[in-house]
Amino acid sequence: MCGIVGYIGNQKASPILINGLIRLEYRGYDSAGISTVEKDSLSVMKDKGRVKNLYQLKGINDLEGTIGIAHTRWATHGKPSKENAHPHLDNSKTFSVVHNGIIENYNELKKFLTDHGYTFYSQTDTEIIPNLIHYYYKNESGDLRFLQAVKNACSDLKGSFAIEVICKDYPDNMIVVRKDSPLVIGKGETENYISSDIPAILSFTRNFYLLNDLEFAVLTRDNVSFYDKDLNIIKKNTQTIEWNASSAEKDGYEDFMLKEIYEQPTAIRETIGSKLNEFSKCEFEELKFTKEYLATINKIYIVACGTAMHAGLVGKNAIEKLCQIPTEVDIASEFRYRHPLVDDKTLCIFISQSGETADTIAALKLSKENGAKTIAISNVIGSSITREADYSIYTHAGPEIAVASTKAYTSQVMLITLLAIYFADILDRNTTTVNQLKTDIMNLPKKIDETLKLSEVVKDFSKKVYQEKDIFFLGRGIDEAVAREGSLKLKEISYIHSESYPAGELKHGPIALIENGITVVGIMTDKNLVEKTISNIQEVITRGAKTLVITNQNVDKNMFNMTIKIPEVNPFISPILSVIPLQLFSYYISKEKGLDVDKPRNLAKSVTVE
Ligand code: F6R
Repeated sequence: MCGIVGYIGNQKASPILINGLIRLEYRGYDSAGISTVEKDSLSVMKDKGRVKNLYQLKGINDLEGTIGIAHTRWATHGKPSKENAHPHLDNSKTFSVVHNGIIENYNELKKFLTDHGYTFYSQTDTEIIPNLIHYYYKNESGDLRFLQAVKNACSDLKGSFAIEVICKDYPDNMIVVRKDSPLVIGKGETENYISSDIPAILSFTRNFYLLNDLEFAVLTRDNVSFYDKDLNIIKKNTQTIEWNASSAEKDGYEDFMLKEIYEQPTAIRETIGSKLNEFSKCEFEELKFTKEYLATINKIYIVACGTAMHAGLVGKNAIEKLCQIPTEVDIASEFRYRHPLVDDKTLCIFISQSGETADTIAALKLSKENGAKTIAISNVIGSSITREADYSIYTHAGPEIAVASTKAYTSQVMLITLLAIYFADILDRNTTTVNQLKTDIMNLPKKIDETLKLSEVVKDFSKKVYQEKDIFFLGRGIDEAVAREGSLKLKEISYIHSESYPAGELKHGPIALIENGITVVGIMTDKNLVEKTISNIQEVITRGAKTLVITNQNVDKNMFNMTIKIPEVNPFISPILSVIPLQLFSYYISKEKGLDVDKPRNLAKSVTVE
């Protein structure tokens, strides 16, 4: 989704802004623009399409301003076009604004401003913001005139926003504010930075300020002041981020996705961290749960979107089997509107790599209102979801740049499995099974390394099927959750139509779609179910399907077109291994088709609007 960058310092702003935009490209966008404070005026340069169109614009290198804002737009109101691209100016060209999010009452505000003589040149909701600021600015005076005008305008806005504003009359100030939309402030020595997320400005600083909803920050070159929604001064400390700048670079890999697939052994090691010691109880310092509290819980909800929801499905299996607590998994956009049965005896777990997914945040707020305790699982320290939840625990996957999630998914599976172990330890349930699982988790990273070595075999099969129109994924039990993830990954980056089904469900309808030459991928890691799944695969072979089987069992390889044998592992964590060939499968198909693996069409890394 939209990305914002800001810079105020002593260097020329435009190259720094463009560099930041390039690093935000992975979020998904359709146009880009920058605005700087020049001698007596505000410059605005923008265009439809890629950031490279922007830096090829005539005159962009002549911009001298040392303060500026920049934006990549992912269209919501109005088609992708130069006019609709941000930044937007007010009619008097005093204010320049970039905005992420959606202003829900923009029609009403547009009418109000039109009635007061303002004209609009774009179809965006954003263009009302600079004009509304100008409307209030005219009637303000004194030192806080700029800030007061921004604050008054924000009081009128309904919806979600992260806003950066610069003003021709204040060449040494930039104002930012956020509500339900991500924004971080990077602190330098004599310069300060703004970004939608940390990786974009990681090469400049590792010290960040986080803004809460409706807090304002006024940036100068060597200072940042903070104000609450009533403009009372507030104090904030910086947080230092452990990620290093190279974790946001490709490091010799062709694509971020491939790099991130190969980072999984490290991501899993880091996520296990010191939580686990095979000889003692699993520790989550952040959660001080007691046996008494867990005994009162009669239901757990795991709520998330997309791939994160698929990690939740694996978590449900572990929590129900190890802790005997009924667990439901729900899609956040459904959960939030279906009046879920949530009360103080419910524990709600929200999974979000970015921590900024609008539906997941809304679902969390709803659960809190209904009295549930909430735990956020995120990969981004200080992200919105972690600030809303009662408790936050982190995957330590490092920045995930490719739109298609890989290392974040496996780290989420790891963390929620550890959470299930933590609960089981407290409740003294299934001690033998839990202790075995602890030992097997300690050995998992080297099994991931072994699985990654299968990459060439996967590549060969991908070359054979990359021109297919439909591909099916089948599995039973925990393998069905992985089939869903494999299918989603393939759709996302190869644009091949794909479906996943519980293997036993095939006969109840979908088998009608199986015809000569169609590709079916079977995942079989559960020794109790492998024979059953083989029977289902046999049914599709009879109808002419080409088959790829991913298994850790001894199966008759002659039955299938390709069998990928992955290391045998404890069933609770088998998804972390069985998903890897599927990640590689979609990656190589996408490459074979010549597509942009890291930035698939229509998709955004961080879905900050519902
Ligand atoms: C798929 C993918 C998405 C995300 C989903 C939730 O590869 O990445 O399906 O999993 O948009 O995002 P987060 O985890 O940031 O809430």
